[in-house]
Amino acid sequence: MMQKNRNIILQALADGQFRSGTELGELAGVTRTAVAKHVDALKALGLDIFSVRGKGYKLAQPINLLVVDKIQAAFQQRSGVAYPASMHVVPLIDSTNTYIKDHLYNLESGAICTAESQSAGRGRQGRTWVSPFASSIYLSMYWRFAGGYQTLSGLSLVVGLAVADALDDLGISGVQLKWPNDIYVNMQKIAGILIEIEGSVGDEVDCVIGLGVNVQLPENVDTIDQPFTDCVTQLGQRVDRNTLIANILYYLHQSLNTFSLHGMLPFKEQWERRDAFFHKPVILLAGQNSISGIGMGIGETGALLLQVDGEIKAFHGGEISVRAG
Ligand code: BTN
Repeated sequence: MMQKNRNIILQALADGQFRSGTELGELAGVTRTAVAKHVDALKALGLDIFSVRGKGYKLAQPINLLVVDKIQAAFQQRSGVAYPASMHVVPLIDSTNTYIKDHLYNLESGAICTAESQSAGRGRQGRTWVSPFASSIYLSMYWRFAGGYQTLSGLSLVVGLAVADALDDLGISGVQLKWPNDIYVNMQKIAGILIEIEGSVGDEVDCVIGLGVNVQLPENVDTIDQPFTDCVTQLGQRVDRNTLIANILYYLHQSLNTFSLHGMLPFKEQWERRDAFFHKPVILLAGQNSISGIGMGIGETGALLLQVDGEIKAFHGGEISVRAG
């Protein structure tokens, strides 16, 4: 209830116009004192709301909130069909990947959860994924594969490619991929992927595919430990997150359906065209080992190929180092 009222107030303020405490109270069915408390809680999430005596509350900048109906309409427009599974949009959550895991048994393959902000967003290798309010896309999709674990190799590369295609559509140029599944523009990270395999029954494997796409990060995010960029910086104009989500879902569904039938191979060439490290020096960190080589693209099941001491070797795990030192 509390969260619902807070959401009503947030939606009323989203257009960046003044709303009086009385008006907000009536909309949410709460007192003006309660409105003030909700506004304080929204400010604590990082929203820049100020108040002027006699006029009420106002967001410094209008914000584009996530709305299920808008995502669905944009998906329908893009693909010509309705979204084939359920969509769960929440303002604040610990992690959208966790939401999918917790609700797995009530969800159908293709169901998504997306949030305005995450309090415990997770990145790869146990890192934290910084998730400021309404600044990015935090999206997780449940996908059930029918062919057992062995059919999943290359999945993360295919997901990266789908996100890159959606960013292309947005008008961002030079979108590249860093093995296994980071999305880069100008050697700066614009999106990341965390796939978690939840378990299996017979040959059915449950996967949670989590995507974080930087849309418009606040200027003061200093906790990200590698070079990064966002869509608005790249485009020089605002980006509608609902439409971008719909486009990502469109490409993801296409790719996952093809991947389920034919595996990684149909994607190999497209992936290599976007390979940020093709014929470039690479340091691969795998456990305690650090391997230096030259990027030579990927193998048929998505392994990273490196030329090491004149020989081409395939690597299935680890990640390419981009951090200094
Ligand atoms: C990485 O590059 O380290 C992966 C980042 C993945 C972040 C996304 S945001 C939505 C989903 N929920 C999470 O907790 N993590 C993923």
